[in-house]
Order: sequence, then C-alpha cells, then structure tokens
Amino acid sequence: MATQRTLSIIKPDATRRNITGKINAVIEEAGLAIVSQKKIYLSRREAEIFYGEHKERSFFGELVEFMISEPVVVQVLEGENAVAKYREVMGATNPDDAADGTIRKQFANNVGENSVHGSDSEESAAREIGFFFAGREIA
Ligand code: RTP
Ligand code: MG
Repeated sequence: MATQRTLSIIKPDATRRNITGKINAVIEEAGLAIVSQKKIYLSRREAEIFYGEHKERSFFGELVEFMISEPVVVQVLEGENAVAKYREVMGATNPDDAADGTIRKQFANNVGENSVHGSDSEESAAREIGFFFAGREIA
C-alpha cells in the first residue's frame, strides 16, 4: 500500500474544549503526518455541501448547526494507507462502540459531537482535500 493522503476535521466539540493538541498527538503517535492544517469557520453552505450525502437523514439539520457552531480545524494527513488508518484511529461513529485508545473513545461527547471527521475512501479524500485546500497550501 502506497503513501496516501486523507482529509481530517477536528470538530467544534473539540475546538470548544481546547483539545486539538491532544487529538493531534494521537494522530502523530499513530504515524500519520499533519502536512497541512488551518482553523476556520465553516459557512452554513459549506457544511451543507460537505455533508450533502446525509441531507435526507433526520440528523442533518442538527449536524449542520453543530459544524458551524464553533471553528473547526481542517487537516491533510499523510501516511501509509492513510484513509483506512485514520478511520481506525478515529474509532466508530458512536463513541460507545469505539475501541479503546481511539480518538472518539477518548474524546467524543456522543454520536453527533464525535470530535473528528475522516474521509471514507480515496475518492472522498481527493474531493474533500480539493474542497478545503488549494495545492499550494500543502507541503
Ligand atoms: P464523519 O463523516 O464525520 O467522518 O463520520 P462517520 O463517517 O463516522 O459517520 P457518518 O455516518 O458519515 O455521519 C456523519 C456525522 O453525522 C453525525 N451523526 N449524527 N445523531 C446521529 O444519530 C448522528 N449520526 C451521525 C456525526 O457527527 C457523524 O460523524
Ligand atoms: Mg462519514
């Protein structure tokens, strides 16, 4: 498996609690390099587009409100098999189901406020990195 990049978002529940450094430590200890990151406010439109695949779900409105409630940190992570690796490091969507040592097990508040996003495929990663980063910003 070759070196890959994936898109991570540290979500508002984590920026609000000032634990972005703790989350970055878990990422780096897992062997993923943070090759670019920036702290931004998502606009409502950006949040709706980013999570567009869930627009028919009952939690969509709540998810959009949450994602624009505080700044987020958007990051490009790089490493061997980075897409699957980061999903593993994040843990299950619901922290009650997440494995010990994962970010969501350690830090998530609940299934909605679950501290991090990670791309779910190589195709999503390419699209999501393009959504947030122009090529020149990435080391
Ligand atoms: P993400 O896209 O943020 O990396 O999370 P995921 O793949 O693990 O989960 P997904 O099914 O794509 O859901 C996206 C985000 O929506 C919120 N959610 N809330 N209230 C609920 O039942 C519920 N279910 C999902 C979470 O913030 C989830 O990460
Ligand atoms: Mg997802």
